[in-house]
Formats: sequence, structure tokens, C-alpha cells
Amino acid sequence: MSSYDLVVIGTGPGGYVCAIRAAQLGLRTAVVEKRATHGGTCLNVGCIPSKALLHASEAFEEATKHFPALGIDVGTPKLDLKTMQGFKAEAVAGNTKGVEFLLKKNKVETFHGTGRIAGAGRVEVISEDGGNRMLETKNIVVATGSDVTPLPGVTIDETVVVSSTGALELDRVPKRLLVIGAGVIGLELGSVWRRLGAEVTVVEYLDRVLPGMDGEVGKQFQRILEKQGIAFRLSTKVTGVELGKKGAAVTVEPAAGGESEKLSADVVLVAIGRVPYTAGLGLEGVGVQVDAKGRIQTDNHYATNVTGIYAIGDVIAGPMLAHKAEDEGVAVAELLAGQSGHVNYAVIPNVVYTYPEVASVGRTEEELKKDGIAYNAGKFPFTANGRAKANGTTEGFVKVLADAKSDRVLGVHIVGADAGNLIAEVAVAMEFGASAEDIARTCHAHPTLTEAVKEAALAVGKRAIHV
Ligand code: FAD
Ligand code: NAI
Repeated sequence: MSSYDLVVIGTGPGGYVCAIRAAQLGLRTAVVEKRATHGGTCLNVGCIPSKALLHASEAFEEATKHFPALGIDVGTPKLDLKTMQGFKAEAVAGNTKGVEFLLKKNKVETFHGTGRIAGAGRVEVISEDGGNRMLETKNIVVATGSDVTPLPGVTIDETVVVSSTGALELDRVPKRLLVIGAGVIGLELGSVWRRLGAEVTVVEYLDRVLPGMDGEVGKQFQRILEKQGIAFRLSTKVTGVELGKKGAAVTVEPAAGGESEKLSADVVLVAIGRVPYTAGLGLEGVGVQVDAKGRIQTDNHYATNVTGIYAIGDVIAGPMLAHKAEDEGVAVAELLAGQSGHVNYAVIPNVVYTYPEVASVGRTEEELKKDGIAYNAGKFPFTANGRAKANGTTEGFVKVLADAKSDRVLGVHIVGADAGNLIAEVAVAMEFGASAEDIARTCHAHPTLTEAVKEAALAVGKRAIHV
């Protein structure tokens, strides 16, 4: 039996980062992963393949629709989906191999198989051929991530009715794609297939897209996507999906009840959220508590109710984001090494990688109103930003929300080209407790899109220059 300071179960962004940080801090560390490659959902079937397809499909749309206006004549671009899927596969392989290299470089021992907690301090590794071995360890970190939320009565066959995993693997462009759920996955992957030629309809139960994000951002973003050709059926629920000879018939009705209607589609993407994944872990056997949503319950040091067992990432509460999982991985490794690991949950950026991108950090206007916090809002449209004009990317705006008394930045919300990169400066500013005035008085390079952030901060004090 091998003996470790730490065994991490799952090598997604939470688990592999935790293991590397622990090894850096001198802990004898091992990881257990049941997937053939490391990197978890994010690298294998999530962040990385979706961003590769978003990038490639955006380039296709640029070449098809925007090159002529730039004076570039390349004829009519033709789609070679097989090569595009190959480009995606290479991005995935490059990243997963990178993680394998990093684990090795940091002397983290790796075990392939399903990890089961046999008791505090004992992890059984069950390999595919049924063989098993026991690892003895002072501490266990569970980083087993999440899985697709099923839609009751609807079977995902990953061919006609697909989850995000199947939607990343389609070998032909569906004529009609029906997406269930106007959340991040629905809008990112809906955008990919729309750009490649599919007619996309998104059915959403609530009366808005991207619930949880700032309402004004959601409204404008929906309008932009509609202009691009995505159709929305809001306040609508799916009550059934029937497979036909070709494609599927989807029964929908108003969320509040009423007449039902059938929509036909070649492919149906179910994207109604994700649920924590703990199957086969043996949590019940050791008495680890989970909440009503199946998330492992932890204290603010990621400790479960059982001594020596910790959990991080999608399998615990909080936003299901790779960078949140990574930061928790670092924090718990540092805590186990006797340091003061910590994650500031008030400053976790959230990005939707469509065109334009949507990015936010901190509180929304709706949340501030609900909590009775007085704030000032400063808004600046990209139509008034010189670089956006030069690039022809004038859709969207930056909105800065600052405390009415202290001027401290409470939240920033952006719809616009490169919003995912723009949000980083405000995340740093918020981490340092910046005021809108601090951002407004920081010199921003010209001509850059970042000047829109500065102008929105100036607008909080009603003194934007360029509007
Ligand atoms: P995971 O990445 O899910 O990793 C868990 C790992 O544990 C898996 O490899 C699994 O095989 C393994 N495992 C589970 N049980 C066991 C067991 N018993 N024994 C051994 N191994 C086990 N987030 C972003 O921040 N940005 C994005 O752009 C983004 N895009 C996404 C796109 C899609 C299509 C999807 C589905 C998700 C996306 N996410 C994105 C979310 C992101 O993937 C997750 O938040 C992140 O992967 C969570 O990391 P994790 O380490 O907690 O879990
Ligand atoms: P989501 O929670 O973002 O959106 C799900 C949507 O489905 C919501 O709008 C919800 O109201 C709707 N919905 C729920 N039940 C429904 C029903 N029966 N009929 C119609 N609509 C219904 O979940 P999504 O898009 O599946 O993504 C899962 C997770 O993956 C998210 O939590 C997200 O954090 C993560 N992710 C992050 C990405 C990023 O950071 N760019 C990209 C993709 C995923």
C-alpha cells in the first residue's frame, strides 16, 4: 500500500491545479483520474473544445460576411467541418498533454481508474479491468466535477438529442438546431452552429437569456443574437422530445401553461445546467454530507464533515467555472500545507465567449436593488470608442456600478468584442478595493477597447469625455 500526504480524486482544473500546488509545497501527492486523459470536463469536453470551435466558426463568419467590407476578396469560403473538428481535437490534445507533463514535472503520482473513498485516509483505485489498489493518505481532496442535468423524460443519445459533449462532436451542420436553455452552453454552442449554417432556435423557460447576469446586459445581448439570426422562444417549456425517422419533434408550451405546439429539429441540444458528480465515490459509506442539490457540503476551508476529506470545484457550491475550481484547488493545497489559502468569491469573473462576448464581475443592478445598496451606474457604449469604430466592432457597452457613498466598484458588466479580456483589469481593481475614480484616473492606452472601461468609470461621476 502506497502512502501520501494528499490524494486528489479527479484531474479537472480543480484537481490538477490542487495537486501541482500541493506538490510545490512539498506534500507527497497522487491523483486518481478515470478519464483516459487529464484536464476534466474543461479540457476534454468543455472550455477548450468549445472555444476552439467558437474561434474557428468566428473566423468562418468573418471570412464569409465581413471580409468583403474590409476589401478582402477570397471568394465564397467553403466549410470543411472535418478539418475544423481536427483543429478542435488538436487543441484538446495539446492541453491535456500539457497537464500530463505538468503533473510529471511536479512529481505528482498519477493513477488511472475510478477513485472510491474506502474510509478516511483510504482511496481505492478501481481500474477498468476490475483490478484495484489501495492508496493510504493523510488527506483526500474530492474534485470530481459535474455532469449534464438531464431533462425528465428526454433521452440524450448524443446523436439527435445531444448534450454539450455531442454538440461539440457533430459531423455535419444540422439544418435546424433546437437548443433547450438560453444559458452559457446554449448560447455559445448555438452561436457555433448558427455561424456554420444551422437555423438555431433557443427555447428558454424563463423570460430572459443568461439568468443571473445583469438584466440590461441580457436584453441587449439577446437583441444582438437575434440580429445574427438566432430565434428565441422565452417563457416556454419543453414537455417532450420524440425521435422521428429524421430528427426530432419537440413539444413546447408556455411556461405559465397553455396550448402546446410542436417544433421540429434535426438536432436538439439539452443545455439546462449541470449537476455535481459524485457517482461511485462512496460518500455515503464514509458519511460525507451533501446538500439538497447533491453538492458536497464544505466549510470555508473546503473541509467536509469527515476529518481529512475536502472538496473543491463544480462538486461543491458556487459558480461552475474552471477558474473558480482552480483557485479553490490552490487554496485548499495551501491550507493543507499550513498556509492561508483563500478565494474571494465577490470577485469571480464570468465570461460568455460568443461574439460579442459578455463579461461580468461582482454584483448586478438587480442584486444591488434587492439588497437595498445605493449605487451609481456609469455606462459607455462601444459606438463611442475609437478602436471599436476602427475595428467595426461597435456593438455593446461597459457598465460600472459603484457604491453611492464610497465610490467603491461593486460590479462591472460588459457586452462587446473582447469583453472577456477587458474584465480582467476591473477584477484586479476590485480585488484591490478600487473606486470608480481610481479606474477613471488610470491612464489607458489609446486606441484600445479598454478606454471604454475608463469612460464608463468616468461616467459614474457623470464626466465621461466621449459621449
Ligand atoms: P471537472 O473538470 O468536471 O473534472 C472532474 C474530473 O474528475 C473528471 O475528469 C472526471 O473524469 C473525474 N472523476 C469524476 N469522478 C471520479 C472518480 N470517482 N474517480 C476518478 N476520477 C473521477 N468554465 C469556464 O470557466 N470557462 C469556460 O469557457 C467553460 N466552458 C465550458 C463549456 C462546456 C461545454 C462545459 C460543459 C463546461 C464549461 N465550463 C467552463 C465549466 C468548466 O468545465 C467546469 O467548471 C470545470 O471543468 C470544473 O472543474 P472541476 O475540476 O471541478 O471538475
Ligand atoms: P446554465 O445554468 O448557464 O443555463 C441553463 C439555462 O436553461 C437557464 O437559462 C435555465 O433557465 C434554462 N432551463 C432550465 N430548465 C429548463 C427547461 N426545462 N426548459 C428550458 N429552459 C430551461 O447552464 P448551461 O448552459 O447548461 O451550463 C452549465 C454550466 O457550465 C454553467 O453553470 C456554466 O457556468 C458552465 N459553463 C461555463 C461557460 C463559460 O464560462 N463560458 C461555458 C459553458 C458552460
